[in-house]
Amino acid sequence: KPPLAQAGVAGTVDAKGDTGSAVAPQFTRDNGAPVGENRNSKTAGGDLGPVLLEDNHLIEKLARFDRERVPERVVHARGTGAGGVFTATADISDITKASLFQSGKQTPVFVRFSTVIHPSGSPEGMRDPRGFATKFYTDQGNWDLVGNNLPIFFIRDAIQFPDMIHSLKPSPVTNKQDPNRFFDFFSATPEATNMLTHVYSNLGTPASYRTMDGNGVHAFKLVNAKGEPIFAKFRWISRQGVKNLNGAQVATATWNYLTDDLYGEIAKGNYPTWDLMVQTMPASEFAKLDYNPFDDTKEWLNVPFKKIGEMTLNKVPDNFFEYTEQSAFAPSNMVPGIEPSPDRMLQGRLFSYADTQRYRVGANVQQLPVNRPRVAVVNNNQMGQLDQSETKTDVNYFPAATGAKTTGDQYRQSTYEVAGMADAKAIAKTNNFAQAGAFYRALKPADKADLVKNLAGDLNVVTSARTKTIMVSYFTQADKDFGTRLAKATNVPMADVNRAVAQYNATNPDQVAPGAMARA
Ligand code: HEM
Repeated sequence: KPPLAQAGVAGTVDAKGDTGSAVAPQFTRDNGAPVGENRNSKTAGGDLGPVLLEDNHLIEKLARFDRERVPERVVHARGTGAGGVFTATADISDITKASLFQSGKQTPVFVRFSTVIHPSGSPEGMRDPRGFATKFYTDQGNWDLVGNNLPIFFIRDAIQFPDMIHSLKPSPVTNKQDPNRFFDFFSATPEATNMLTHVYSNLGTPASYRTMDGNGVHAFKLVNAKGEPIFAKFRWISRQGVKNLNGAQVATATWNYLTDDLYGEIAKGNYPTWDLMVQTMPASEFAKLDYNPFDDTKEWLNVPFKKIGEMTLNKVPDNFFEYTEQSAFAPSNMVPGIEPSPDRMLQGRLFSYADTQRYRVGANVQQLPVNRPRVAVVNNNQMGQLDQSETKTDVNYFPAATGAKTTGDQYRQSTYEVAGMADAKAIAKTNNFAQAGAFYRALKPADKADLVKNLAGDLNVVTSARTKTIMVSYFTQADKDFGTRLAKATNVPMADVNRAVAQYNATNPDQVAPGAMARA
């Protein structure tokens, strides 16, 4: 026994770091072999001698430490995860055959909340949309609803996503986020006006992850057992109510306040809950809209919501890296009854997430406990780094006479007609400003004032008068009062703003004139 323990000195350790407690587990190497020394490297020739390469325990310890990080997510790097359960509360078999929506059925979930632009470990109060990603471990495989707290997005085509993120991330020269760069991008991206109006409102700084709604943002195609399609949008409504912070409150928020709040409340048994709502629209309705139904810069305003389920988060993962960091949500993880819509952003995301995860975590990312489906995975995908599938058959091909696997007609995806020219072309019915105006007009006076202040704060960093004027002209097109107040707060002459508005409207024939669109 180590000498100190023998002497019975409680709570002390000896020179080797041992407490000498009889119940302490034996320290081992990764191969399971017991270790005799964990504080002093093996040297040749006593105190003055060099360290030996043959100290396998030292080399393994350093080598494992050197490899502790996987690349952080290219976006949404700062996140917090929790487990829970989803309960379906309505029979919606008329619109989808997805098995998780049988009324009363419970499905385990893992949710990861996140900021978007700022790196892992950044303060949680920084202005950003917030990620709200849910993995449903259904009895027909995993369905990932990878959404945000805001109901719309900045851009409407995946081909622009890398450019937008480059403009928002730190400059490759100074390594600092710079409003000159991202407003340069947004001044050529009028469809971002709706999202910018949301992000610069206090929704961009939530009081708590518990007090945020969540949105699938895109339209998805739901298909029932008869193969009939309908388009749908999903929204989580927080039962805690939506609560945000203003600039002064954010300034005093602690670095980790969102995680502390979520984990603290779950630990107290005060489990947060959300209602899952769905909006539906048949294709026959599309022609009546003054926007494209698959344009993710638009909400489906005035389309009623129906409640279809409830979610409770009740479990804090016991290892951050294993669960939260290695969790891999992908819009392409769909289940029978839920299919892609033609939304051009969604279509790009179907590729991008699974692709980055094969790189970020590895080809066998879906075998990790947090990502592993709760049903058997039966296919011929195999091998790669860290494969744990333990395949015990040599029939790793399809079709095969023996040991074959089957496919089922009931799981075929829905069919649809395609016609017309293949082309890379902007959508018609851009209607870039009306919904931003409707959102602004629905804000309370104090929230309007905060929005103008938050936006002016970043716009006033911009040195290009042209960029500033164009940005203010977009918000003016959304709402005259909004634009006028912003022009004043940014010292942009109203005459210049009006000129920019006229120029825009003269050169954008697709623009549907902002109407008196109201929020329900
Ligand atoms: C994370 C790409 C648009 C919500 C990510 C990641 C990528 C990505 C590569 C990192 C995934 C990982 O490493 O696991 C894209 C592309 C988009 C797009 C290419 C557009 C074409 C959106 C939109 C939303 C969204 C519109 C919201 C509806 C999220 C969320 C995460 C995420 C919540 C974090 C998921 C997590 O917690 O692990 N995105 N994104 N993204 N994205 Fe997007």
